[in-house]
Amino acid sequence: AKTHEHEFVVEATPVKRLCKTHNTITVNGQFPGPTLEINNGDTLVVKVINKARYNVTIHWHGVRQMRTGWADGPEFVTQCPIRPGGSYTYRFTVNGQEGTLWWHAHSSWLRATVYGALIIRPREGEYYPFPNPTRDTPILLGEWWDTNPIDVVRQALRTGAAPNISDAYTINGQPGDFYKCSTKGTTIIPIQSGETNLIRVINAALNQPLFFTIANHKLTVVGADASYLKPFTTNILMLGPGQTTDVLITANQPPSRYYIAARAYQSAQNAPFDNTTTTAILQYHNSIKTKSIMPPLPAYNDTNVVTKFSRSFFSQRKVEVPTEIDENLFFTIGLGLNNCPKNFRKRRCQGPINGTRFTASMNNVSFTLPNNISILQAHYDRIPGVFTTDFPANPPVKFDYTGNVSRSLWQPTPGTKAYKLKFGSRVQIVLQDTSIITPENHPIHLHGYDFYIVAEGFGNFNPNKDTSKFNLVDPPMRNTVAVPVNGWAVIRFVADNPGAWIMHCHLDVHIGWGLATVLLVEDGVGELQSIEPPPLDLPLC
Ligand code: C2O
Repeated sequence: AKTHEHEFVVEATPVKRLCKTHNTITVNGQFPGPTLEINNGDTLVVKVINKARYNVTIHWHGVRQMRTGWADGPEFVTQCPIRPGGSYTYRFTVNGQEGTLWWHAHSSWLRATVYGALIIRPREGEYYPFPNPTRDTPILLGEWWDTNPIDVVRQALRTGAAPNISDAYTINGQPGDFYKCSTKGTTIIPIQSGETNLIRVINAALNQPLFFTIANHKLTVVGADASYLKPFTTNILMLGPGQTTDVLITANQPPSRYYIAARAYQSAQNAPFDNTTTTAILQYHNSIKTKSIMPPLPAYNDTNVVTKFSRSFFSQRKVEVPTEIDENLFFTIGLGLNNCPKNFRKRRCQGPINGTRFTASMNNVSFTLPNNISILQAHYDRIPGVFTTDFPANPPVKFDYTGNVSRSLWQPTPGTKAYKLKFGSRVQIVLQDTSIITPENHPIHLHGYDFYIVAEGFGNFNPNKDTSKFNLVDPPMRNTVAVPVNGWAVIRFVADNPGAWIMHCHLDVHIGWGLATVLLVEDGVGELQSIEPPPLDLPLC
C-alpha cells in the first residue's frame, strides 16, 4: 500500500460562469478541486492550508475513518474549523472500500465550490468484479450561484426564509450549452469506438436530487458509494446530494456527439427550484461535427422512475447484515416552523407564515452545533456541558407522518443531543419522512459508517407488515440513503467505529435548519477498539 501526500490551498480565485467573474473559494485554484486517485489500502495525507477569509474544514465523504474520527472533518463535530491563516493535516487510510467517493468542505455552504472526486481502485494486483474499463471518468454534478453562496445561506438563516435557489446546475463545474455565456466551457468527455468507460457520477449539488442520463447509451450500474453492486442497466440515474454511482458505458454508437445531461428530481411539492438542464458532451473520436444528440429526461416529479431505480440495487455478493438487533431506533426526518424569537425584527422574520422561520429536525430535535469545542473533543476529554446524550430513540409523539398534522407538531426544540451506542452494538434505524410543511426525498448521510439499506417504502413504516420485506441477503451498502418522499427507509449496521459521527440530511439548507444528530459510539475494550489520540495540529477553537 502507498501513502499519497497532497497540499490543498483553500483560497479565493476568479472563476467566470454565466457571463460574470466571481471571487470563488477553490482548492489550489481549481474548480472543481483536484481529483484524488488511490488504491484500496492506501493512506492519504492532505495538508489543508486556509488562505481564504472563511473558516474551513474538509470532509472525506464516505471514508470510514476507522478510529481516525479526528480526520473526518465536519466543523464542531470532530474538529474546530481551520481559521484563516491556519492549516491542518488530514491523515487516514482507506481500507475495504472500492469505487467512488469524494471530498468537500464541511463548513457553512463552502462546499458549493470546494469539492472534488476521490477515486479508489482495487488493491495493487487485484481487479474490478467486471471487465477492466478502457477509461475512467469522474463526473461531478454541482450547483452554481450567481452570488456568494455563503451570503445566500447567511441571509436565509438570519431571516428564517428559504435560501435563493441556484442559478445553474453544472457538470465538472460547467453549466453547459443551454446556459448563457457557457458553450465555450462545456465539459467534453472523449471516447473512442469500442471502448468502455467507467463513469463515476457524484452528486455534489448542495440542495438538489438530480436525474442523470447519456443520449443513446445504456448505463450499466456497477457500484454506488464505493461498494460494488450486481450490475443492472438503465437509462436514468437518480442521485441524492452526497451519493455516487459508478456506471459502465460502451462506445457502440455511430461516432458523433451525445449529450450527457442532468436536471432536478423535484420531490418537494411547491418548493421553488431551478428547472434548467446541465449538459456535457460525450464526443467520439473522429466524430463528424454535428449538433449533439439530446437524451430524454423524466418529468421533474417522476417518483416512479426513482423507485424503480433504487429497487434495482443489490450488493454484488452476499453480505453480512446483522440479523439480530441491539438498538432499534426510529427517527423522523422533516421540516418544521418555529415562531421567530422576540429579538427578531419583524421585517426580518420571513418564514412562509407570518412570524415564523424555517426549521428542520430529527425526532423533533433541531440540531445545533457547539461553537467553542468539537463534540468529539468534549467526548474524548470528558468535558461536560457541550452536548447531552438524551437524543430520543423514538419520536416523542407518534402521528400520521404522511398526513396533515396540527400546527403544534411543527415546532421542534433546538438542542445539541447525541445518541450513545455501545461499541459493537447492532443497530437498526427506521428513517421516516414527515410531510410537515412538505414531503420530500431526504438524502440522509451517516459519517464514519457504511450501512445496509434493508428496505424502503411509502407511507408510514409499519413494523408488523414491513419487516417481512427486509432484504437480509444482498442489500446495497451505502453511506447516503435517499429516503423516499412521503416514505421511509430502514438501515442496519454494526457500531464498530468509535467516535462522534454526525448523521444529517445532505441537502445543505436542511443542515443549517437542524436536520441532524450525532451518533456517539463509545470505545470498546483494548486499543484496537478505541479512537486514536488527536493529532497535535488539530485546530483549537
Ligand atoms: Cu458529505 Cu456531512 O457530508
